[in-house]
Amino acid sequence: MPQHSHDDFNWFHTTKLGKMFNGDSYQFISNLRANSIDLIVTSPPFGLVREKEYGNVPADEYINWFKPYAHQFKRILKHSGSLVIDIGGVWNKGEPTRHLYHFKLLIMLCDEYGFNLAQDFYWWNPAKLPTPAEWVTVRRIRVKDALNKIWWLSKSPWPKASNRRVLQPYSDSMEDLLTNGYKPNLRPSGHDISDRFQNDNGAAIPPNLLAIANTESNSPYLRYCRSKQLRPHPARFPVELPEFFVRMLTDEGDLVLDPFAGSCVTGEVCERLRRRWICAELVEAYLEGAMGRFETRAKRSTQRKNTNWEPSDNDYFKLPRVGLLWESRTTDKLAKDGGKKRPRTGNRRVNPDKSRRAKGRSRD
Ligand SMILES: C[S@@+](CC[C@H](N)C(=O)[O-])C[C@H]1O[C@@H](n2cnc3c(N)ncnc32)[C@H](O)[C@@H]1O
Repeated sequence: MPQHSHDDFNWFHTTKLGKMFNGDSYQFISNLRANSIDLIVTSPPFGLVREKEYGNVPADEYINWFKPYAHQFKRILKHSGSLVIDIGGVWNKGEPTRHLYHFKLLIMLCDEYGFNLAQDFYWWNPAKLPTPAEWVTVRRIRVKDALNKIWWLSKSPWPKASNRRVLQPYSDSMEDLLTNGYKPNLRPSGHDISDRFQNDNGAAIPPNLLAIANTESNSPYLRYCRSKQLRPHPARFPVELPEFFVRMLTDEGDLVLDPFAGSCVTGEVCERLRRRWICAELVEAYLEGAMGRFETRAKRSTQRKNTNWEPSDNDYFKLPRVGLLWESRTTDKLAKDGGKKRPRTGNRRVNPDKSRRAKGRSRD
């Protein structure tokens, strides 16, 4: 098959830095030149046990469906490049157990295609609803599934990267430590915390848990869709997610690909950060909506230039400390059948006074 230069396609839309292709992404990437892409960042259709509107692949067939993509991704990535896949988990049909497809995908990519797992990330969406209701809110035998896995893979063990690009403000406790000092000692884990940790580097290195609430409700993209009577894409990732990796793994002028572009969030991020980008999306209507991301760019880019920004309490997602509501003894017996028999009565309520008191404490 002839390899195209990135200018040869019949593009749906182009900007100064980016190009959108409407059609099958496998055909599209098969025609890209080898070793030409710095970063592939994407959220592919998830494997599902029930079909969604944009033709997801059944979880059991996912690995075989993905293999041709794996081959092409490896071929088109530069040696220094990275492949970042955001992927959600799925429950097995009719059972309170989880499918393993996204772990199998990771193992397949490393074992069969020679990718390196540079690091596994987890996107925590605090706004996730407690589903599936049957297991979480009715039988109360599982907890909320609020994490997507993000596999950061690379062609070489040393992809280009810098965590200095994605620093975050120090937490209150770290600020306190820097101001008031810390007595170096041994942690329960056995780590010797030396006074090196007291250096004020201006900002903190983030963990591999990305806390981003997916609650977009009045963005320029959504307003554009409303004004054109287009239905917004139903499974968008938040801008901060591709932005984290574009910042950390690419330089200005590098080439980024999103082969399952949806509403083209990746393109929007690249445009703002001055990376070149290409994307492909099967459904034309999604790209029509994506146009809203580029028409309003001038307005949007000014939103980020607030150099006087100071972190506030709302800039941190707080995880309540585990154990806040625990009683000294567990008096209620667990169902011997693991919740197989559906309960008839309502849920037992936590004492609201105690719950409120604990909430107050958790903010200390
Ligand atoms: C999870 S969504 C991506 C959403 C996107 N990250 C966003 O934030 O808008 C996956 C997308 O892949 C598209 N898709 C599925 N199969 C495709 C294919 N063979 N070629 C191109 N796009 C495809 C779907 O139409 C869907 O929009």
